[in-house]
Amino acid sequence: MTTPQKASSPATDARIHRFSIQPLNRFRGASATIKRPREVAHFSYDDNHEYQADESGINYYVPPPMGANLKDGFDTFKHYEDKEDPHLDSLLRALVDADKQDKGEVKADFVTWRGMMTKIMTAPSDNFAEFAMFATLHNGTIYIEEDFPSRAASRAEENNRPPPRYQHPDQQSREMMTYWGYKFEKLALIPTLPNQTSRQDIERHQRGIVSNHAQHCSIVSTAFGPHTLLLGGEVDGLLAPKPTDPSAQIQWVELKTSEELPPPPRQQHRDVLKFERKLLKFWAQSFLLGVPKIVVGFRSKGGVLTGLQTFNTHEIPGMVRRGTNCWDGNVCINFATEFLEWLKTVVGSEAVYRVVLKKGSGVVEVTRVADGTGGVVSPLFREYLDRVK
Ligand code: A3P
Ligand code: MG
Ligand code: MG
Repeated sequence: MTTPQKASSPATDARIHRFSIQPLNRFRGASATIKRPREVAHFSYDDNHEYQADESGINYYVPPPMGANLKDGFDTFKHYEDKEDPHLDSLLRALVDADKQDKGEVKADFVTWRGMMTKIMTAPSDNFAEFAMFATLHNGTIYIEEDFPSRAASRAEENNRPPPRYQHPDQQSREMMTYWGYKFEKLALIPTLPNQTSRQDIERHQRGIVSNHAQHCSIVSTAFGPHTLLLGGEVDGLLAPKPTDPSAQIQWVELKTSEELPPPPRQQHRDVLKFERKLLKFWAQSFLLGVPKIVVGFRSKGGVLTGLQTFNTHEIPGMVRRGTNCWDGNVCINFATEFLEWLKTVVGSEAVYRVVLKKGSGVVEVTRVADGTGGVVSPLFREYLDRVK
C-alpha cells in the first residue's frame, strides 16, 4: 500500500527565492514613471503616542536659533520606542477612518510604511544596506511590514554591548545622537502658525521638554511604473498651511541634522562623499511621501547648531550626479520598480513571507515562513474590506 504523499506544509517549504541587486547596470537609464504622491489619509499620535484620527500632530517650521546646543535637555528626553510590534495597524486604521473606498483609493498593489520602501529603494546604492520584512498577500494587495522581532533583538543586543574601552572625546553615545535630531525638531517646529504666534511663545516652546511621542503621519497614494502603492510615514512639519485643494502639493518639510563639513580649504573629497551618501536617505525618504523640501541643520562634532541649508528634494539626485556621483536616483527607482514586480511573482498566496537583505550579500532572499497573514493585516482592516467589498 502506498502512503499518500503529505502535502508539504507552507511553514516548512524551504524554497528560497532570490533577487540579485547586481549587476546595477540593468537599472540605469531613464527612470520608470512615478505617480506624484497624493495624500489620501492622515493621522497623529498624541503626547502619549496614542492614535488620533486628526491633524493635531501637525507642526509648522520656524528657523531654529544658530548656536543652540543640541545636547541641552538630554536628561529630560521623553524617548518613545515601540515595545510591541506596531505592524501596519495605525496606517490601516487611518485608511478605515478616511473611508475613501468609493474613490478606489484604499486599493493598491502594495501597502507599507514609507520606511520599508526607503530601505528597498536605497539598497542598490548602499553597500551596508540590510533589512528584514514580512510580506503577505490579502485580497489582491501585498502588505509589507518590518520584521519587528528581529529589529527588537538587534536593538537589545546593541544596548547590552559594553562601551568601548577607549572613546574619542568627540564620540557621542547612540542615545545622544538620537536625542539631538529630536532636539533640532523641537527648535524648528511649533504647533501653531508662526505668523500667529508671538516670539515669546515660540521661545517658550523651543525651551520645552523634547519628546518623540507625538507625530503626524501622512498616507499617500503613489505608483512605481505600473505598481500602485499606499505609503504611510511621519512628516515633520509644514512650511505653509495645508492647501484646501486636495490635488495641490502639500508644503511638508523634512528636518535633518548632519555634521558640518569643514570649510573649503580643509574640505576633502571624503567629507563631501560622507554627506552625499547621507543625502541618499534624506532624498528617498522625502521623495516617497512627496515632501518637497529638506532643511538640514549642520552641527559641530560637539552638537552645536552652526548652519542651515534648505534642499529641494527633486534637485538632490542631480546635485549628487554632478558632485561625487556616489548614487543614482534612477537606479534606485528602477531597482524598486523591478523588485516590486518580482515580489508580485513570489508572494502569490495568503501566507507570510520573510524578505531579507543581509549586509553585504547583494541578494534579497524571500522564504515562506507561515500560513495566513500573521499580524500583518489588522482584524479591523479585514472587517473593513469585507464590509466595502
Ligand atoms: P536626524 O535625522 O536629524 O538624525 P527623521 O529625520 O526621520 O524625522 O527622524 C528624526 C530623528 O529621529 C533623527 O534625527 C534621529 O535623531 C532619530 N532617528 C531616526 N531614525 C533613527 C534610527 N534609525 N536610529 C536612531 N535614531 C533615529
Ligand atoms: Mg521625522
Ligand atoms: Mg526628520
